[in-house]
Amino acid sequence: MLPTARRTALFSESVIRDMSRVASEHGALNLAQGFPDFDPPEVVLDALRRAIGAGAHQYANTWGASGMRQALAAKIERFSGTVVDPDRELTITCGSTEAMAATLMAVLDPGDRFGLVSPFYENYAADGILADAQPVHLRLHGPEYRWDPAELRSLFASGIKAFVLCNPSNPCGRVFSREELLELAQLAIEFDVVVVTDEVYEHIVFEKPHVHLHALPGMADRTIVCSSLSKTYSITGWRLGYVHASPHWTSAVRKVHDFLTVGAAHPLQVAAETALALPASYYTALREEYLERRSILVQALEAAGFRPRPPEGAYFVLCDLTHMGVSDDRAFALWLAREIGVAAVPGSSFFKGEARPSVRFHFSRRLETLREAGQKLALVPGRI
Ligand SMILES: Cc1ncc(COP(=O)(O)O)c(C=O)c1O
Repeated sequence: MLPTARRTALFSESVIRDMSRVASEHGALNLAQGFPDFDPPEVVLDALRRAIGAGAHQYANTWGASGMRQALAAKIERFSGTVVDPDRELTITCGSTEAMAATLMAVLDPGDRFGLVSPFYENYAADGILADAQPVHLRLHGPEYRWDPAELRSLFASGIKAFVLCNPSNPCGRVFSREELLELAQLAIEFDVVVVTDEVYEHIVFEKPHVHLHALPGMADRTIVCSSLSKTYSITGWRLGYVHASPHWTSAVRKVHDFLTVGAAHPLQVAAETALALPASYYTALREEYLERRSILVQALEAAGFRPRPPEGAYFVLCDLTHMGVSDDRAFALWLAREIGVAAVPGSSFFKGEARPSVRFHFSRRLETLREAGQKLALVPGRI
């Protein structure tokens, strides 16, 4: 047999998505792969029904249907204050997943180095490898997951072309402060680095506000925002994401996007206009609902002997397992799914180098699902 391309040996299939398969195999509650078990807002579903009857069944403009780009530009301006040109600065993609892959392919040349923090969302390293570039990791120091300013500076000084930041962060739940982002911005300007942000959880923040890096002084031309509608409107299966960047970056991203996928599903883009126009009260309710879910999961984990730190944002709780005598978190996650009936993601898949055994649970579930998970997790102390 001919060998497969060498790059396919440099990364494995997603551990997160693999844990969804493990969950169904064992009939476990899936607190592994982060997606809601509840429906999107009814008005958004109505908009989809209307869109399906309204004839948008052929390719949309490859940059994204113009109605959706306009609605998105208005929404970005509403929340970040930035005026966005929908014709030159927005590209609609198949989820933020495609947004990030297309962006890294548009930014990085073979052999380029790019920075990312550890722990990190597993797609980034694979996306960089698909661009034949080399990821370089910066450790976030626990338990608060902060970077060391001196280590950040030496990473930027080491000749990276891009830096990828997930904010709010999956998996560690950090919401980076204005001061931290100003520090990052200053280094990006000083060392001429482009920052690629993943902001899919921008509306799921609890104790402090989300700060938009692109809106900080000097960052408009050196920030590429990859985001999506998946988490904000509970439509992960619609696969609608976007890239927001200055025309210089947008024109390169659009070329990659065009040849990767041509475009995202047209009727869904039409329906998305309604989601993007939802009033401020929608976002307040979203946050409050997630606060309640967070509190149920955190309490259940505490009762089960874990030591959870409530995340500042996103919908994940990353728990260190050291005090429970666990050394192999993959074996622990398989045991938890099989014996306890709750699937989670082994934390080692998010770390580079310095992983401590840990496990990540998500709380994008109905309250009753989380309570049921709590009852199952209560069995852990007696069985471990
Ligand atoms: C940090 C982060 N980025 C991107 C994604 C994928 O988003 P999308 O559904 O828009 O592809 C996820 C999904 O879990 C995520 O956690």
